[in-house]
Amino acid sequence: MSDLAAPHILALTAYEPGKPEEELTRELGIDDVVKLASNENPYGPSPKCIEAISGATLALHRYPDPQGHALRQALAGHHDVPIEELCLGNGSNELIDLICRVTASRGEHAVFGHPSFPCYRIASVAQELDFTAVPLRDHLHWNVDDLLGAVTPKTKLLFISNPNNPTGSYIARGELERLLRALPERVLAVVDEAYFEYVDAEDFAPATELRNARARLAILRTFSKAYGLAALRVGYVIGTPELITALNRLRAPFNVGTAGQVAAQAALADEAHLRTGVEATVRERHKLADALETAGLHVAPRSQANFVLVDLRRPGRAVYEALLHEGVIVRPMPAPLESSIRVTVGKPEENERFLRSLERVLRQSRV
Ligand SMILES: Cc1ncc(COP(=O)(O)O)c(C=O)c1O
Repeated sequence: MSDLAAPHILALTAYEPGKPEEELTRELGIDDVVKLASNENPYGPSPKCIEAISGATLALHRYPDPQGHALRQALAGHHDVPIEELCLGNGSNELIDLICRVTASRGEHAVFGHPSFPCYRIASVAQELDFTAVPLRDHLHWNVDDLLGAVTPKTKLLFISNPNNPTGSYIARGELERLLRALPERVLAVVDEAYFEYVDAEDFAPATELRNARARLAILRTFSKAYGLAALRVGYVIGTPELITALNRLRAPFNVGTAGQVAAQAALADEAHLRTGVEATVRERHKLADALETAGLHVAPRSQANFVLVDLRRPGRAVYEALLHEGVIVRPMPAPLESSIRVTVGKPEENERFLRSLERVLRQSRV
């Protein structure tokens, strides 16, 4: 084998993104495609974002503001935190990677859940960290004692996706607070709240409300989901000035483009648009889960995100492939969820199309 890439990189499995619509059109000649694979917002961003980025003053020949000052200022107001506690990322994905690189060195240790967002593992491996992927109970539920039990004297990082991708499950306020208080001081707890806006469970608490529970806490948010700006790649982290200063040492100076900065500000200001989209998605999430259960399928309980995880009790990848032939893209799951698919909650007509296609695929026993 070529020795071009370092051995720990050769051992990595690349992140498998949702299949783009154009790819399916190219491969199968299907024009009318429904994509429910990447937890995107089907309603798109506020129209004010489009106005903002098409504004005559957008200077495309200039580099973006390297500090993203205006957006950070707006976020500081939104969260009522000092601007020194905010750093922007090229999507929150970049920040996951940066956080690993600035806080932990080769041979130190990271803890995250399994199944959870694969990028915690990828970023840890890239930094040559040892890691423990803590199995969720029944592959679905967080257990704080299991997470704490995985912490070693070398642990520097703990990642939690709350709510969790791909299960939709969450750690409730009391348990999250217990975890944050119980972790050894040296550990940076990273609470990734990519799906925070879709939560309707009353016992959920955003980590922004628990900042006094521990000093070493980083909270990740993104404009890719509820704000509908996935194409522009804007995420941010809220953390101590010490963490933000460290991130700024390594962060590429122009990591978030001007269009992203400007659109994110417009998105943040249009609360009504955000609320309408989130309400529609939460309503549809309940309807979709109910319809799947009525069809006798097993849905992970009470997803708090903009997707549902369905256990089909047969190979999920085969169902995924049969659905592609129906023009519907969902997400097959790796082990231990290989009998499940993850379905992003779309618009009502998209969800109905998915349900009809799934029913046809299962009835025709194509799998
Ligand atoms: C849990 C979680 N965190 C982070 C991300 C990355 O989002 P982005 O880089 O678009 O901000 C995703 C994307 O699917 C996610 O599911």
